[in-house]
Amino acid sequence: MRHSTDAELKSRLAEWRSQVDATLEASLPLASTEPRAIHEAMRYAVLGGGKRIRPILALAAAEACAADTKPLLKAVAALELIHTYSLVHDDLPAIDNDDLRRGRKTTHVVFGEAMGILTGDALLTEAFSWLAEPIEGLEAGRQLWAVSAVARAVDSTGMIGGQVADIESERAQERSSDRQALVERLDFIHRNKTGKLITAAVVLGGLLAGASRWSIQLLTQYGQAVGLAFQIVDDLLDQEETAETLGKTAGKDAAQGKLTYPSLVGTEPARQRVQELLQVAAAKADMIGGRVNYLGGIARYICERRS
Ligand code: IPE
Ligand code: IPE
Ligand code: MG
Ligand code: MG
Ligand code: MG
Repeated sequence: MRHSTDAELKSRLAEWRSQVDATLEASLPLASTEPRAIHEAMRYAVLGGGKRIRPILALAAAEACAADTKPLLKAVAALELIHTYSLVHDDLPAIDNDDLRRGRKTTHVVFGEAMGILTGDALLTEAFSWLAEPIEGLEAGRQLWAVSAVARAVDSTGMIGGQVADIESERAQERSSDRQALVERLDFIHRNKTGKLITAAVVLGGLLAGASRWSIQLLTQYGQAVGLAFQIVDDLLDQEETAETLGKTAGKDAAQGKLTYPSLVGTEPARQRVQELLQVAAAKADMIGGRVNYLGGIARYICERRS
């Protein structure tokens, strides 16, 4: 095994991203499908940019486990549908009330709140239809295991549980001085609202690649470290970057009294925590192997990104 060079990583990220984009473009219902309003809104939400990091993580995991990734594209692209649904709903007036996403107006601002809710519902449903499509050469029992792992990651004990705790914890720092309890709560929020889907992405890649239980365990540990780091970086960027760079509103966590790493532990300790998690992720990536291993490089990219 050797690590990807910076140039290899850059070109691989671009290649995987364009494969995912092409799959999404070709597989989503056409905008002309009736009823048009929902299909236009679904395509608007999904095809308007985004880093595509969850499908990319799944592809990198599958490749590290020696799979041919082409037959897996539609299944891993389903992760982007789930992620986009979570963003469309996260931006709704009742949740974070945001009007900017991926450099454009949010889905509910363009199509109306009812259509924003229904677009999220439709994307989530579409995702499980894609995940359940038979994949040639893959044993059905293993695919069922994979579909169930993704569902569990985003259910009320996973991503939705994290979103619930996130909104319940608004202004928590004004209400409580129990710092230890707040840190535990924050850890719960981040591991669930963001970490679980990211972990499911690498686990999905491994399961579809037919990886051993040992490899799946390493991928899980890698995903948990990267997933938590991802949300701490999101918190830091919200505080440090402009809306122009982020393509979404900046400084809104402080405005909404969100519980975040920089607000609770401070900016430097938050950065330090990201570095520690990166070390964990890199060590796990090394143990997973692969001819050329991109997982370590992707973890670094996630921790060093500016948008
Ligand atoms: C933003 O996710 C929401 C979080 C879970 C932090 P991304 O930073 O992956 O957003 P896109 O998909 O690139 O727009
Ligand atoms: C969103 O977290 C997490 C999910 C959508 C599950 P944030 O609320 O921090 O994401 P942004 O900053 O709006 O992208
Ligand atoms: Mg939110
Ligand atoms: Mg938000
Ligand atoms: Mg955020």
